Amino acid sequence: MSGDARLREIYERSVAALRQVVTDMKITEDELHLAGHYFNRLGQSGMCPSLLDVAFAMTSIDASRQDFGGTRPNLEGPYYLPDAPLRADGVLFEKAPAPDAPILTLTGSVVDAETGKPIPGAELDLWHADENGIYDREGPFLRGRIHADQNGRYLLRTVVPNDYSEHDTDPIGELFRAMGQGNTRAAHIHVKIHVDGAEQLMTQLFIPHSRVLDTDYVVGAVSDDLLLKLEDAPPVAGQGPQYTAKFDFVVRRHAARQAAE
Ligand SMILES: [Fe+2]
Repeated sequence: MSGDARLREIYERSVAALRQVVTDMKITEDELHLAGHYFNRLGQSGMCPSLLDVAFAMTSIDASRQDFGGTRPNLEGPYYLPDAPLRADGVLFEKAPAPDAPILTLTGSVVDAETGKPIPGAELDLWHADENGIYDREGPFLRGRIHADQNGRYLLRTVVPNDYSEHDTDPIGELFRAMGQGNTRAAHIHVKIHVDGAEQLMTQLFIPHSRVLDTDYVVGAVSDDLLLKLEDAPPVAGQGPQYTAKFDFVVRRHAARQAAE
């Protein structure tokens, strides 16, 4: 199908689906124009891509990977910064975290989905919010790159992130408030994996302490297979509660994916 024909089919099917909503809900002309003015405000705020992500991105991601297996991908989100520092010891905080901040030691492997073999030297690029749900948006705190060892194994030590709210002051938040819906993201750690310099997986790992696992506003983002299982660990002097968890990343390499497509 040519690009134009594909666009036409997408437009026609989308409009047909929405016509049914107009019929079922008996949407008035006034309500249609109210929606139009809302989309004008949304566009002026630059938030159109974010609203599409909120509503459809996880559906798109899941549809794209149906036949490929491996760890479920997830959104990159707006707070990625390239060139995060290398963390040879796997510790994401170069300054001491707050004394009551919970600390996570995460271990596991990076494995090739096709061969089942570990991927030595795979690079994990990680970033996340702190124990209060705040990102270091400019600096390296709770950001870093770590490398799997010769057996594909990695070790990460970091603060356990908290839930955070977004869109408090933009038209997406306005829509959420009007609908009586929350604007909180479930606590997560972003992970981008590179193998031999090429990005092979972008995902998020979720924290069971989150209070909004069932209501994360990114539709479909939270799934059981990305939910860490935290276990209590022995105390460390001067640090908050200690937890351990394990997670194996199963990576489908692009070359293999492209050959299958
Ligand atoms: Fe995030």
